[in-house]
Amino acid sequence: MQRLWSRRNLLKAIGATTAGAVLSDSALAGLINRPMEFPPQPMPPNKPVTAIVAGAGARGNTYSAYAQKFPSELQIVGFAEPIPFRSDRFARKYNIPRERRFKTWEDIFKVPKFADTVIITTPDALHYGPAMAALEMGYDLLLEKAIAQSWKECSDIKNLALERNRIVAICHVLRYAPFFRKVKEIVDSGTIGRLVSIQLIEPVEHIHMSHSFVRGNWRNTKESNPMLLSKSCHDLDLLLWITGKHCERIGSLGSLTWFKKENAPPGSTKRCTDGCAVEATCPYSALKIYYRRQSWLGHMDLPEEGDKGPAILAQLKTGPYGRCVYHSDNDVVDHQVVMMEFEDGITASFNMEAHTSYAGRRIRVMGTGGDIVGDEQDLLVSDFQTEQTVRWNANEHADLSSGHGGGDFGLVRDFVQAVSQQNPKLLLTTIESAMESHLMAFKAEEARANGTLKRVRDVD
Ligand SMILES: NC(=O)c1ccc[n+]([C@@H]2O[C@H](COP(=O)([O-])OP(=O)(O)OC[C@H]3O[C@@H](n4cnc5c(N)ncnc54)[C@H](O)[C@@H]3O)[C@@H](O)[C@H]2O)c1
Repeated sequence: MQRLWSRRNLLKAIGATTAGAVLSDSALAGLINRPMEFPPQPMPPNKPVTAIVAGAGARGNTYSAYAQKFPSELQIVGFAEPIPFRSDRFARKYNIPRERRFKTWEDIFKVPKFADTVIITTPDALHYGPAMAALEMGYDLLLEKAIAQSWKECSDIKNLALERNRIVAICHVLRYAPFFRKVKEIVDSGTIGRLVSIQLIEPVEHIHMSHSFVRGNWRNTKESNPMLLSKSCHDLDLLLWITGKHCERIGSLGSLTWFKKENAPPGSTKRCTDGCAVEATCPYSALKIYYRRQSWLGHMDLPEEGDKGPAILAQLKTGPYGRCVYHSDNDVVDHQVVMMEFEDGITASFNMEAHTSYAGRRIRVMGTGGDIVGDEQDLLVSDFQTEQTVRWNANEHADLSSGHGGGDFGLVRDFVQAVSQQNPKLLLTTIESAMESHLMAFKAEEARANGTLKRVRDVD
C-alpha cells in the first residue's frame, strides 16, 4: 500500500506550477517519452533453464512464479524448505517428486547436480553456506541480497564464482524497475547536464517497519544483517548505478530510537493478546494489523481456504508477530542517514526512515542543466534553459505487474537469458556489480559505530 506523491505535490515541490506548465509536446518531452531502452527481446531458450529453490518462502515463491507464467523458459525441478506447510504447498504447485524435495539446503548438495541453477532465497544468515556449496558443484546462482553477512563472506562467494566461471545474479531488482531505469537513462543521456548530486529517501512506512524490522525476520543484526544491508543495499546499489561512478567516501549516523522497552506505554504487555491496556489505540497493535485487518499476512502460514481468523489468533499468541513492538529482541536502526562522495565530486545522501505514513522511494537528481524529482511512479524532469518541465509516469510506459515496480520478473527474465546463453553480460546485476554497494554498507556501518568518515575502497 504505497501512498505516492500526487502530481500537484510533485509540481509544488519543484515550483513547476509557477515556473511553467508541465509540457507533453516539446523537444524535452520527446526525449523523455521515447520508448524505454529495455534489453532486446529475449531469445527463447532451446529448452527451459532448470532451477532448484533453496527456501520456499516469500521470495522463493516470487521468483518461481516466473516458471508458472513462462514454463518454456524456466522450470523448477527441486527445492529445500524445512517448514512442512510451505514444503507441501510448493511441491504441489511445481509438481516436485519426493526425491527432489529436501528439508534443508545442505541436502540439495548431497546428491549429484541435477539442474542448471540454484535460486537462493533462504534467510540472510543462510546465504553463504548454500552459495558456496552450489558453486563448488558447478551451479549458476540467483542469489538474494544481501549477498552474505560479512565482507569476507561476500568476497569468498565472488572469488569462487570467478574461479569456477559461474554466473551469479544478485537480486538487486530495482535496477530492473522501469522507474529507476528511466532515471538512469535520463542521467546518462546528459539531459540534465553534468550530474552534481542525488538525494534518495526510503520511507519504510511504520507498519512495514514493525512487521519486518521489529517483529519479523530482519529485526536483529546477528540473525540477519544491519538495516543498511538487509533493506537498503538496494539504495546504495541504485546510487552507484545511476552515478556510474565509484564511491570514494562515506559517513553515516542513525540509531534505534523508538521500538525499545523504555518507550513501552504504561499498561502494555509483552504480547498484544495478553490484555494490553493500550491495544485499542496502539498503531502497532498486532490484533489490529493481522487479525482485524488481515493485512501483512505474507509471512504467516495460514489455511488457503475458509476463515483464517482462528489460525491468525493462534499465531499471535505464540509466534513473533504477536509480540509488543516495545518488547521484542530487535536491534536494527529505525532511522539512518548516509552521506557519500563519488568520483568527480558527485555527492549523495540517503535516508532510511521508519517513521512515515507512506512507502515508496523518493529521489531528487540535480544536474548542471536541470533536475529530476520522482516517487517511483511519476518523474518530473526540468530543463533550466527552456524552463520546461516534463512528466513521465511508469504506469503509462511499462508493465509493472510483478513486484518491485516490475523489477522481479525483469531480473528473472535476464537471468534465464544469461544462463541459457552462458553470458553474464546479459545481466544488469551480477555479483561483481553488487560487491561495491555491499562494501559501502559495511563501511557505512563502521562509520556509524565510530563516528568517522570512511574511505570506501580501503579494504583491510
Ligand atoms: N530482493 C528483494 O527485494 C528482497 C525482498 C525481500 C527479501 N529479500 C531477501 O530474500 C531472502 C528471503 O526472504 P523472504 O522474505 O523470502 O523470507 P521467508 O522467511 O519468507 O523465506 C525464507 C525461507 O527459507 C526457509 N529456510 C530456513 N532455513 C532453511 C534451510 N536451512 N534450508 C532451506 N530453507 C530454509 C524458511 O523456512 C523460509 O520459508 C532474504 O535474504 C531477504 O533479505 C530480498
